[in-house]
Amino acid sequence: MKMAVYTALGIILLIFAGIQFVTVDRTNPPVIAEPNWDSPKTREYAVRACFDCHSNETKWPWYSYIAPVSWSVASHVHNGRKAFNISEFPAGTQKEGHEAAELVISLDMPLSDYLIMHSEAKFTEQEKNEFVQGLKNTFGSKEQKRKNSATEKSKDSTQIKEESKKNDNHEQEHEKENEEKEHH
Ligand code: HEC
Repeated sequence: MKMAVYTALGIILLIFAGIQFVTVDRTNPPVIAEPNWDSPKTREYAVRACFDCHSNETKWPWYSYIAPVSWSVASHVHNGRKAFNISEFPAGTQKEGHEAAELVISLDMPLSDYLIMHSEAKFTEQEKNEFVQGLKNTFGSKEQKRKNSATEKSKDSTQIKEESKKNDNHEQEHEKENEEKEHH
């Protein structure tokens, strides 16, 4: 009986040791450009709560060196950077900035499991309000984005109308041609 327990423990230990050899990408690519922060304070809040997953200046904690936890940390960082990278503005991720304030209000960001190990990322009510306002000033708010895209859309639809008018003309011409052919 004892023997079986030792064997099982041994196997678990071997597996644990084995998975440590799976390579985990913990690189921090160079910082290209940051957004135009409305104030240094907004940036400070972001450093506290967002930079580890949304910048190229990630502080990799000790547990990011121990599999399998390291896999989860690395995946949060890689997916976080992909969705919204503060160090790579304006490289296409800018539009997600509009979501930032909303996500902080709804407590979806920072991710809740991040807060277990990062008490500094917990905000008081006042800090949260300041941060949300700062994010809106820096990235624009969702309401603004809606307005902008609404004007873009109305532009698009006038273009489409004009184009479809042209197409109509073409069709009419074709019809005329066909009629003429039939007459001949
Ligand atoms: C522990 C890692 C982590 C932290 C810390 C974190 N995020 Fe995220 N964030 C993610 C991941 C992963 C995604 C992409 C996947 C998803 O949508 O859940 C994401 C997505 C986003 C997006 C894009 C949403 C979209 O619709 O694509 C924004 C904006 C964002 N986060 C803002 C923030 C802000 C602001 C903070 C700081 C208050 C923050 N995040 C903190 C991991 C994190």
